Formats: sequence, C-alpha cells, structure tokens
Amino acid sequence: MNLVVVSNRVARGKPNEPMTGGLAAALLPVVEYSGAIWVGSSGRVRDGQQKEPFAEIEALGTGALATLDLPAAHYGGYYEGFANSALWPALHSRSDLIRVSQGDYLSYREVNAFMARALLRFRKTRTAFWVQDYHFLALGAELRDLGIDDPIGFFLHTPWPVTAVMQGVPNHRELITAMLAYDLLGFQTETDRQNFLGYLGGELGLSVEDGIVLSQHGRTRCEVFPIGIDAEKFAQYAAKSVSHPDVSRLRRSLNGERLAIGVDRLDYSKGLVNRISAFDRLWTEHPQFSRSISLLQIANPSRGGIEAYGNLQNEVARLVTDVNGRHGEVDWTPIRYLNKGFSQAVLAGLYRTAQVGVVTPLHDGMNLVAKEYVAAQNPADPGVLVLSKFAGAANELDTALQVNPHDIDGMARAIAIAAAMPLPERKMRWDAMMKKLRGHTIQQWSSDFVAELEKCRTQKAAVAPL
Ligand code: G6P
Repeated sequence: MNLVVVSNRVARGKPNEPMTGGLAAALLPVVEYSGAIWVGSSGRVRDGQQKEPFAEIEALGTGALATLDLPAAHYGGYYEGFANSALWPALHSRSDLIRVSQGDYLSYREVNAFMARALLRFRKTRTAFWVQDYHFLALGAELRDLGIDDPIGFFLHTPWPVTAVMQGVPNHRELITAMLAYDLLGFQTETDRQNFLGYLGGELGLSVEDGIVLSQHGRTRCEVFPIGIDAEKFAQYAAKSVSHPDVSRLRRSLNGERLAIGVDRLDYSKGLVNRISAFDRLWTEHPQFSRSISLLQIANPSRGGIEAYGNLQNEVARLVTDVNGRHGEVDWTPIRYLNKGFSQAVLAGLYRTAQVGVVTPLHDGMNLVAKEYVAAQNPADPGVLVLSKFAGAANELDTALQVNPHDIDGMARAIAIAAAMPLPERKMRWDAMMKKLRGHTIQQWSSDFVAELEKCRTQKAAVAPL
C-alpha cells in the first residue's frame, strides 16, 4: 500500500536536531519504518499561482519527506490566523482567546485546497491518505472534490472540546461537516471522541451508531487511537546521552541537589504560570525544599507572531524573575529557564538526570513529554512523574502522581511528595507505567490506524455500484 501522511510541521531524520512539538517527533519513526511519504510545509512561502505546487523530496529511512512552499497570500491567515488563533484556542477550551476574521477562514480553506492539489502527484495504485491535526480539517473534503475515492483518514493530536466551545469558532458547521468526508476520524481519548459525537448529534442532528456516522459524504468511523512512543529507543538515548556535554554539565552543577524538569512549547495550554506558582508555593511554605530541589524549565517558543503567545512569554519571564529574586541565594538559582529547543537525544539525558518530571498542562491531547520522561528513567533509580489529570496521557499513566493544575497547593504538595518518595514506591509506580508504554508503541499506534483505514477500502468496494 502507498501511504501518504500529511501534516503542517514535519521533522527531518536527524537525532541531533531540536524538535518542536509532539506531532513531528511522533511521526518521524512512523515514516522511517513504514516507507510512507510524508508531505508537509517547508516553513517557507511563495508568491503567485503555482500550477504544479513545488515539492522538495528527500529520503527518510525507508520512506520519504516532501515539503511544499505554501502560498504567501494565504499563509498568515491559515497558520497564525484560523489554525492557531481560532482552532487551537477552541480545541484547548480557551474560547476567550479566539481572534479571527472571515479572511482567515478563507485562507485556511485555500491552503487546504492547495495541499489537496499538491497531494495528487503522490497518488499511485492502492494509495491511502492519513492527514494529521487541526491544520487540515477540510483536506479530506478537498481531496473528494478532486475525485479521490481512496481511503482518507484523519487523526487529531489535540483534545476536542464540548460543543458550546466549538460553537465559538466561526464557520464551525461548514468545517465540521467537511470533516465527514474522511472515512476514519481518530481521537486521543474517549472524552474527545464523545465530545465530537456530541457535536454531530447536538449541532448537526446526525445520528451515530457504534461510532459510525452517516452523512452527505457517506460513512465516517470515529475511533480512539491513543498515540504512543518508541519507549525502547528513548531508553537507549537516555542511557547513552549521560556523557553528552549538556547532560554532564547539568549533573555536575547540581552538587547533590534534586532536580525537577519541565519541557514544553511556550503555549498557554501547558499551564506554565500555574506550575511556576506551585514551585513558588513549595519554597515559601516548605523552606526545607529551598536549595534541595530546583526546577529546570525548558520552554521553546513557537507561534511568536500571535499576541497571546507574546503576552505569555512576557508573563512567564516576569514570574521566573520574580520567583528567582525572592527565593534565590548567591550560589543557588531556583529556576533555570531556557527558551530554546533540544534534540530528543539530549532531552532523554536531561530527563534521566531529573528526579521529578512535571507535566502539568491545563489541557493536552496526549503529551508525549510525560511518556518520554518515564521511558528515559534509570530502572534502578527511577524519577517520579507529576502529571496533570487533563493530559490525555493521564488515562494510561495512572500510577503517576496525578494533579489538578488549577490547584496550586495540591501541585506544591505533589512535588514535595515526589521529591521525597522512597525507592520501592518509585520503582513500583515506574514499572507499571513502563509496562504500559512498552505494550503500546508508536509503531502499534500507526499500524492500528492504518489497518482500520484499509478496512474502509474493502467496505467501500463492497458497497460500490456495479
Ligand atoms: C502541537 C500540535 C502540532 C504542532 C505542534 C508544534 O503538538 O498538535 O500540530 O505541529 O504543536 O506547533 P507549531 O505551530 O510550532 O508547528
């Protein structure tokens, strides 16, 4: 089968390159091992009408990577506009941050149509298309308009909110109706799937049976496929990278002190302000923890042109300065705050160095940092994961110390418990989580989805008119 995977952001197969966001990191091994062709944005734009959209193609493991320059006139409205100032806030239940114009919606649709035309050149016999994430909700419908009847699946990496929030997105009805052109829609959790089905019933008046909805576009199956990671690869990276200069410098600088680590894109969904406030509370109310645990917070900026992100960057920087000013000592910095990305190999070593991993988003589709932190631990002396209940990963990682990220006192207590947890309890919790990660890998996730997508081909053939 010729599998064509599509996403906005892509990754190149270089283990030493910094990675932005869970999606690109997750898809990389899928493409490398499955032989798929991965199509996405080059990050550059082009002026004018392109008859044959330009694609640069390079090998990626057994697969290939094709990147496109998106149309300059529509890129802003598509990426910073509709995708990241309407859909992203809504999908993370932040309707208060929706800022969008009708022009942005039209640009979003234009870029989806442009991508559909570009995909035609990768179509061969027995092709299946697998579209990723909220940038391309309408891509399936555009492909159908071009006459494509191959199986087309879609996977949403973010949460799906309750209907009242989705109703805050301009053109939501048209857009979500367009999503039904997909044969298969995949969600991270059952809650996301139920919210989506709730929208179909409540807003579009469609009935759903056994996860299958019938619409003007035909049959669409809605299922849950929680995304996994390659836990063994991460564990190997972690064991190897202890000698990496960044990792060994970090170790040396700790002088026996404990370390907590947070690694996030600088995004309002990640709960950075609440997390830092919890550390502030910890050092204020439990002074025995000052000098005995510090926080390394890596926050890689993205979407910097959007006001909400600029504001957040300023707010977090001010808060870190304030907390360090109040709790710091001449020879002790409570929070090391870095606005840059690291490669997966180095991150794995940093995770292994930290006795506590803090993953406390207000909302998150899955959050692969939580899984990577667990996979990177030393089995003989594992660290403790403090995990938000509102990350998709909380369903599987149920022996993490789960917290409500809105409860600052509760988070401060959990960090204190994690920092002091005895080895047998740490091992028991870690073993249980590692077992889950090994039992559900990224390869499994992609083969489950693709197998379900292939079934759509057989079903379509069975109902095709003679
Ligand atoms: C999240 C989204 C991805 C996105 C990534 C990075 O993980 O689900 O679709 O690629 O963030 O965001 P960016 O806007 O920097 O590509």
